[in-house]
Amino acid sequence: MDKERKLIIAGNWKMNKTVAEGIALVNGLKRELANIKEVDIVVCPPFTALCEVSKAIIDSNIRLGAQNMSESNFGAYTGEIAAGMLKEFLVRYVVLGHSERRQYQKESDELISKKAQAAHAASLKPIVCVGETLQEREANQMEKVLQTQVTGSLAGLSKAQMEETIVAYEPVWAIGTGKTASSAQAQEAHAFIRKLVAKLYDDTVARRVRIQYGGSVKPSNARELMSLPDVDGALVGGASLEDRSFADIIKNSI
Ligand code: PGA
Repeated sequence: MDKERKLIIAGNWKMNKTVAEGIALVNGLKRELANIKEVDIVVCPPFTALCEVSKAIIDSNIRLGAQNMSESNFGAYTGEIAAGMLKEFLVRYVVLGHSERRQYQKESDELISKKAQAAHAASLKPIVCVGETLQEREANQMEKVLQTQVTGSLAGLSKAQMEETIVAYEPVWAIGTGKTASSAQAQEAHAFIRKLVAKLYDDTVARRVRIQYGGSVKPSNARELMSLPDVDGALVGGASLEDRSFADIIKNSI
């Protein structure tokens, strides 16, 4: 598959995997994916497994991501983890504003934009998640929700930072439900987001920014989704917890 933008496929392990399980998973991925150069491959373990997974993937084509970080650099923020601490484990990416954090931790667009700025300041590439709920889609609010989330969560980024930001379109109704957006639905939302980036920044930034699709991506639907003109990768939850299925998603995408 020949695309202007390099595909980026990230596995979001969420609150799963002990250290030993995480190491076993990436060892499996290393075997399956050793020769893949066409895709940026990222795994996002829980914080507790970052250190050992980082060691296990050193000298491989797999890169490390975190699932969240603080908007602050250090200080009296009990339970929080700063960008600089992630860097110690050679973390390169950080998922921000996942719908689960928007829902359960009440993360706002304003907070997510502060985190995105802090990530860039530490040379981490943020994967900023946006997406509408089923209720919002049924009320014809998809574009309005995406406009608010994209504008709010990416506020304050320079053009250069925006080009290095990954946007993940994850319709909330498709996450962990087995319901995938149709090709037409995914392409429509991705094109809308890219147009918005062009409006907020410019055409060059919009052409360069990578937009991942997330929500029940699996080996059987990866090829079709990844072939869509404005889909530049995937953020994979459930199917990233097993080496064969995550590897097959990547292999089926190229
Ligand atoms: P899922 O999760 O692949 O299990 O639907 C995607 C995500 O939440 O990033």
